[in-house]
Amino acid sequence: MKANRRNFLKATSVITLGVAANISKAEKVFGVEGVTSAFELPPLGYNYDALEPFIDAQTMQIHHDKHHLAYVTKLNEAIEKEPSLKGKSLEELIKNINAIPENVRGAIRNHGGGHWNHSMFWQLLKKDTKPGEKTLVAINGSFGSMENFKKEFEKSAMGVFGSGWAWVILVDGKLIICNTPNQDNPLMDIAVKKGKPIACIDVWEHAYYLKYQNKRADYVQGFWNVLNWDKVETLINS
Ligand SMILES: [Fe+2]
Repeated sequence: MKANRRNFLKATSVITLGVAANISKAEKVFGVEGVTSAFELPPLGYNYDALEPFIDAQTMQIHHDKHHLAYVTKLNEAIEKEPSLKGKSLEELIKNINAIPENVRGAIRNHGGGHWNHSMFWQLLKKDTKPGEKTLVAINGSFGSMENFKKEFEKSAMGVFGSGWAWVILVDGKLIICNTPNQDNPLMDIAVKKGKPIACIDVWEHAYYLKYQNKRADYVQGFWNVLNWDKVETLINS
């Protein structure tokens, strides 16, 4: 196994357990075979149309194959410019944004964040799952009810001005909802609210505009039909 491959697997081990075994397949599928940079595009792990009608196949294809790939490519370009960063895991990079040399700090923040966030997001999408036992206990304990939890999450997703993400994070055993601008996330040292991400929604227009146009609220409502509660339960337990 090449060093760069080992680094990639280490970098995304928390969030790509289910797909890491398919990396070789992904390289062929997504045409990145032979890439020698540290980070690679992980596969979706399901078909583009798997989330229809709530998230359409064309959006998934462009979102994954174009947008996510661009974050990975630009992250690798930034690391090429700053050799001191070579060999660091993705989480090491994004947890220490303030320590990144200034010449590439913005690029690592945006593209490293973009890579991590999307890798997480793909795994949090699956139709026909239900909240697990520990998830329900955590949600009821933190928000009083599932209804309150959903309302607060929707409010946070709608409250992102421009592009960004809404998150559910675990902090000292309690679930908290927050949002981040652009490709920031709650693992970053620069985040206003920090914690372990449990769930998230991408509210960049590229995540929904083809199907929902300007109606972000409809996209956010539809998200409840494709949130992978099995993954949420796994993350709460881990
Ligand atoms: Fe996105």
